[in-house]
Amino acid sequence: MAQQRLPVFQKFIDDVRAVWAREKSTEVRMKATTELLRGLVSNDTMLAHSRDWPSTEGHKNLLLYEDPDYGFVVNAVVRTPGRFGSVHDHAHCWTAYGVLDGTEKLERFERLDDGTKDGFADVRMTSVTEGKHGSVDLVAPYDIHAEQGGPTRSVAVIVRSERVAGKVLQGRYLPNEKKTYQGEGPTQVPFELT
Ligand SMILES: [Fe+2]
Repeated sequence: MAQQRLPVFQKFIDDVRAVWAREKSTEVRMKATTELLRGLVSNDTMLAHSRDWPSTEGHKNLLLYEDPDYGFVVNAVVRTPGRFGSVHDHAHCWTAYGVLDGTEKLERFERLDDGTKDGFADVRMTSVTEGKHGSVDLVAPYDIHAEQGGPTRSVAVIVRSERVAGKVLQGRYLPNEKKTYQGEGPTQVPFELT
């Protein structure tokens, strides 16, 4: 028999599924999901459980759950201390970030050019938000951003409106060189919370 899912995580999935069943707009679904994620990443059982999760160094994500009916995905990222994050977008996908352990910074950028020159992008940082245990943030489609690790190991739980990695290329940006290119999303490593 398959091992039972960690109850607090099963409850989260059930609650998110109820939102997706009730609402039709992806934006409304993801805003409600962000509030549910706040509860999950504030939870001490989840925090204790995450202390054993493996590092995702090497452009990986733990794949905690993929919904068979609605297609939303729950990932985790376990960053080593001082992890540098590159600037990117998530194509048409909505992404809710929750910090479970440690601290992380979410940097947001605006694009100043009109995107018509191939390979060129002039992006400028507009804000930095620091997240800690229980903090959540919602990133809209095509929003340019970077996640930076803090001075200690950090763990984030991420809900994506759909699985983008392996299906759609995502924008990547080199702000100093004013360059942009398309890249693959992170490798998905299945990891059941039991
Ligand atoms: Fe991201």
